[in-house]
Amino acid sequence: MESLPVSSKLHSGYHHPLSRIWQSDRRVNKSTFIYPVFVSDLDRDETAIKSMPNVYRRSVPETIVHIAELVKIGLRSTIIFGVPLHPGAKDERGSAADDVQGPVIRLIHALREQFPDLFIVVDVCLCEYTNHGHCGVLNQDGTLNNATSVARIADVALAYAEAGAHCVAPSDMNDGRILAIKRKLISAGIEHRVLVMSYSAKFSGCLYGPFRNAACSTPSFGDRRSYQLPPAGRALAWRAVARDVAEGADVIMVKPAGSYLDIISDARKSHHLPIAAYQVSGEYSMIHAAAAAGVFDLKSMAFESVEAILRAGATIVISYFTPDFLMWLDEPV
Ligand code: PBG
Ligand code: ZN
Repeated sequence: MESLPVSSKLHSGYHHPLSRIWQSDRRVNKSTFIYPVFVSDLDRDETAIKSMPNVYRRSVPETIVHIAELVKIGLRSTIIFGVPLHPGAKDERGSAADDVQGPVIRLIHALREQFPDLFIVVDVCLCEYTNHGHCGVLNQDGTLNNATSVARIADVALAYAEAGAHCVAPSDMNDGRILAIKRKLISAGIEHRVLVMSYSAKFSGCLYGPFRNAACSTPSFGDRRSYQLPPAGRALAWRAVARDVAEGADVIMVKPAGSYLDIISDARKSHHLPIAAYQVSGEYSMIHAAAAAGVFDLKSMAFESVEAILRAGATIVISYFTPDFLMWLDEPV
């Protein structure tokens, strides 16, 4: 007879597929996901992004067709990134970001009209729109001018909110932008209907490379290490999250996701608000590359990666795998 105590018997709790599901606190479902889209200012555009399988940069009409297919299978939310490609569209202060004729604002209007149940998030940053590719307005010495950048970011956020975005998500990392955005929304009398999702713990590193190909937002000089967080900076991330919560963020984000699970967990333990995790372009491309090399099955690894992100404490996952999950979640387990 086996001498194990009864309390050592764990298999009984997860023998069945359903009892295995019960072992998770937060489950992957269609409402978990926000789907990133890249929208350009060309009339007709559907350009494959080389470093990201199945990801395209599209003009407004093509994006609407694509979103319509996904809404049919249960898409709940999208995050929009604008990509100005017209020559001369970029300048020192990123003027095209809040151009009412620009692709982002046109897409917000179209999505609100055609998909009334879709939750529309808009990324707020200047790097796609500045001629130097940095996330704000620069001083003479090439550093970010925080005050000017924050004022600009808040104006852009307000323009997206007024156009009908349900959520604005500043990814620029300038100090104090959450408070500035909240104040603008309050002055405009629309703060009650606009969720502010802060990219609070956004780390610098090489996992954003494919995104910068898609968004054409690689800086023309230097890098982003003086405003995005150093990868080893756990305490700094804690402070950045606490600061943004104090400034009134409704949701905070950790980005990248997979190699920053401790940061997600810290945020979950210290604060009481939904936490978003961005499974970034480099994470997406790595999983695809490894699957293509026969290391593992794509779907199994995509599920593992998202289950780990939820286990760490995330509520929301921003992922390029969203269209795949919408299909996978309809398949029998
Ligand atoms: C722009 C922005 C970036 C991402 C989201 N917003 C790129 C960057 O900071 O260079 C990265 C997303 C991804 O890699 O999927 N500020
Ligand atoms: Zn940026």
